[in-house]
Amino acid sequence: MSTAPPVRRLGVIVGSLRQASFNRRLALALQRLAPPSLQWQPIAVGDLPLINQDHESALPAPVQAFKQALAACDGLLLVTPEYNRSIPAPLKNAIDWASRPKGQNSLGGKPCAICGTSPGQLGSAAAQQHLRNVLSVLNAPTMSQPELFLHFTPELIAEDGSVANDATRQVLERYIAAVAAWVERWAA
Ligand code: FNR
Repeated sequence: MSTAPPVRRLGVIVGSLRQASFNRRLALALQRLAPPSLQWQPIAVGDLPLINQDHESALPAPVQAFKQALAACDGLLLVTPEYNRSIPAPLKNAIDWASRPKGQNSLGGKPCAICGTSPGQLGSAAAQQHLRNVLSVLNAPTMSQPELFLHFTPELIAEDGSVANDATRQVLERYIAAVAAWVERWAA
């Protein structure tokens, strides 16, 4: 008799604040295709103040809430756009807060996965590579493969996150199944 895999909470951060964000659409598509063992926990980063060490001794309320949300999840999925071949500022700001104060790194040991999309041909590859470097400094075990660099076209993912193209849907399905396995491996 096989038993169902335990439910794991996946925090999901979208690095774009734009309402009609293609990366938000990608996150929605992945949520629709995720195995039932993943409980989806969107974590917003848009209301975090800009990182300022003057406020490290008494963290602003949104930062406290953000760090609590990170602590409550078993793994983290970062869905990132690319800004000028690098990590968008709202996402970098969130990661910087997560890493502070010194000795209270919320990402240490947290299994992470990175993906992203862009209308550009490289599908956010450069931003993802920079993000990988940052997570490595923070000791966050980050899934290496499969990678997901999606060249976004308007017909690829509908606003409701549905994916019409079979090949794309299979790629996304395989990716999010691998994320679930990655989180499970570190939780076990
Ligand atoms: C971009 N964009 C972009 N795209 C890309 O593929 N490589 C890049 O280096 C950049 N640089 C860049 C800088 C800035 C400041 C902006 C605002 C945009 C375009 C970007 O991929 C596009 O706007 C996406 O739609 C952003 O993702 P969301 O918001 O749709 O998720």
